[in-house]
Amino acid sequence: MSQSQTLVITGVASGIGRETARLAVAAGHDVIGVDLHAPAEAFGRFIAADLGDPAAIAALVDALPSGIDALLNVAGVSGTLGAAKTLAINFYGLRMLSEAVAPKLKPGGAIVNVASIAGFGWRANLERTKGLVAASGFPDVAAVCTTWGVPDDLGYPVSKEALLLWTFRAAHQPRFKTRGIRVNAVSPGPVETPILGQFRAVLGDARVDSDISRVGRAGTSSDIAPAILFLASQQAAWINGANLAVDGGLEASVNAEVLGF
Ligand code: NAI
Repeated sequence: MSQSQTLVITGVASGIGRETARLAVAAGHDVIGVDLHAPAEAFGRFIAADLGDPAAIAALVDALPSGIDALLNVAGVSGTLGAAKTLAINFYGLRMLSEAVAPKLKPGGAIVNVASIAGFGWRANLERTKGLVAASGFPDVAAVCTTWGVPDDLGYPVSKEALLLWTFRAAHQPRFKTRGIRVNAVSPGPVETPILGQFRAVLGDARVDSDISRVGRAGTSSDIAPAILFLASQQAAWINGANLAVDGGLEASVNAEVLGF
């Protein structure tokens, strides 16, 4: 068994976050779970917080102990709440939590952000992505969405584009880098969790089914959780600023289509 760690895991009430917490506890780690809703099963300590609300994030950080090995940012929403709320939870709240927790992370610790294949367009939309990431702290997210012309139906992919670009930047951000804190992302393809039903409503069945058929099946939370825990572990000590696709080959397929190989 790898060395026991203290892990803060967001999104523990459902899906990928719940499976990550379950696996972490089974591996002997101490888990501090965070979610809007209390999980049905207890995986160690739980703190309720709305990760789209800066005041709640500040209170959460106050409540967390020092000596955390890794922050696993799994919580997220599908985009049905509109662009401003989606970016507030999936990007600005996640970034605020990560930056505020940094002093409570052990030197050599890790942050793992759950992004998505939906963030694939960060390069194609680089100016907008840079602009969104340049809005520092926890901005007036509705105003930022207006400035960068983010419509409600693009809130989800745009939030993940920003998250990916920030992950690459954060690996070199002094607040993390000077203390040896690694920052990486995991990008799942479609995974059978409650959020997938919402993606079907937002994106349409055809798009989701096409993504699934490219790789033969949808993923499960147990396909994703081990990758998250690996990036949090010391076995990944030389992996920093990386985006690990865990999608059955979907990103490779999209790359082939977009780049024409
Ligand atoms: P899920 O809906 O099963 O779980 C999401 C969890 O986040 C829920 O427990 C929910 O209560 C929590 N959450 C939502 N808003 C919150 C808030 N404001 N504050 C605190 N907690 C909040 O979804 P799933 O699939 O487990 O999603 C986990 C992550 O994986 C998300 O970031 C999602 O974008 C990402 N992802 C999921 C994919 C999928 O097909 N399931 C595909 C690619 C990425």
